[in-house]
Amino acid sequence: MEYRNLGRTGLKVSELCLGTMQFGWTANEATSYKILSGAIDGGINFIDTADIYSRWASGNPGGVSEKIIGDWMKKKGIPRHQIIIATKVRGKMGDGPNDEGLSRGHIMSAVEGSLKRLGTDYIDLYQTHWFDENTPIDETLSALDDLVRQGKVRYIGCSNYPAWRLMEALWVSDRDSLARFDSLQPHYSLVHREEFEGQLAEVCRTYGLGVIPYSPLAGGFLTGKYRPDSDQVDSQRAKGAQRYFTERNWDLLAKMEEMGGEKGDKSISQIALAWMLSDPVITSPIIGPRTMDQLADNLGSAGLRLTKKELQILDEATKAKSESN
Ligand SMILES: NC(=O)c1ccc[n+]([C@@H]2O[C@H](COP(=O)([O-])OP(=O)(O)OC[C@H]3O[C@@H](n4cnc5c(N)ncnc54)[C@H](OP(=O)(O)O)[C@@H]3O)[C@@H](O)[C@H]2O)c1
Repeated sequence: MEYRNLGRTGLKVSELCLGTMQFGWTANEATSYKILSGAIDGGINFIDTADIYSRWASGNPGGVSEKIIGDWMKKKGIPRHQIIIATKVRGKMGDGPNDEGLSRGHIMSAVEGSLKRLGTDYIDLYQTHWFDENTPIDETLSALDDLVRQGKVRYIGCSNYPAWRLMEALWVSDRDSLARFDSLQPHYSLVHREEFEGQLAEVCRTYGLGVIPYSPLAGGFLTGKYRPDSDQVDSQRAKGAQRYFTERNWDLLAKMEEMGGEKGDKSISQIALAWMLSDPVITSPIIGPRTMDQLADNLGSAGLRLTKKELQILDEATKAKSESN
C-alpha cells in the first residue's frame, strides 16, 4: 500500500480509502467491524464517513456509520493518530429547519454530534457533503476556519461541487485568509467520467487539491457481477446499477475482463480501481466493500497500475458519452 500526500497538504493517506456508507445499511455492525479491521490490516489508514450515513435505511436515525467507527476504535484500542478520519456535514440530521445545510449554526452543532459519535476530539478531514445554495460561502468557510483554529478539525474539503463553486470557495478563502478546501470528493468512475473530467480535474491539478473519488465501482456495476444475460443479482444496489446497462458498457466489461486475465488473473473491479490509481491527479479512490471477500478483492488493486496501452484501450471504450451509450 502506497501512502500519498492529500493534495498539497502534509497529510499522508493510503492509496485506497475505506468508505463506510454501507455500515448500518447493507453491512451490519459485526460485519462492519470486520471490514474496518481487515482494511487496517491491509494497510488502509484512511476512512471516509458522513453524519447522514445511513439515514435512508429504514429505522436508522443517521450517524450510525460514525458510531460504528467510534465504537470499533474504542473496542480494538486503535491509537487515534493511526487513523485518518474524514466525515461530512450538510445533510438533514433532524426535522428542524436548521438541522441541515452549511450555516454557521448547523456546522457548529453538527461537528459536536460527529465528534461524539466518533469518540474523538478531532476530525482529520471535515467535508461539506454538497453545496448549500441558501448560505453564503464566506459564512460556511469562516465557520470551518474557526473549527480548524479550535483544533476540532485539521483539514477541510468538499464533495459534489461544480468547478465554479469550488473556484469561488478557493478565492474566498484566499481573500479572507481562511482555511481552504484541500480536497474534493467527486462522483467518478470509468462509466461516469464527464462530471469530474470536465473542469474539476484541472482545478484540482492546478491548485493542488487531493481527489478522493466516490463510487469508483459504479455501485457494483464495474465488478462484472451484472451481465446482460445473467439472472437478477441479489443486491440492495441492483436498481442503482441498472443505469449503466448499455451496449457500450457491456463491451467495456468484456475488455476489462480480458485485460485482467492478461495481467495475471486480476478482477474487473481491480482493473477499474487500477485505472484510477494510474492517474496522478487521484489521491485515493473510496472503496465501499460490503463483505470481507469484496474487501479482499478491492485491496488487490493496491499497487496495481495500468500501462499506457491499457489506459488507451479503456479511454477509447469510455471517453465522452459514457453513461448513455
Ligand atoms: N460524497 C458523496 O456524495 C458520496 C456518495 C456515495 C458514496 N460516497 C462514499 O464513497 C464510498 C464508496 O461508494 P460506493 O459504495 O458507491 O462505491 P462503489 O465502489 O461504487 O460500490 C461499492 C459496492 O459495490 C459492490 N462491490 C464492491 N466490490 C465488489 C466485489 N468485489 N464483488 C461484487 N460486488 C462488489 C458492493 O455492493 P453490493 O454487494 O451491495 O452489491 C459494494 O458495496 C461510500 O462508502 C462513501 O464513503 C460518497
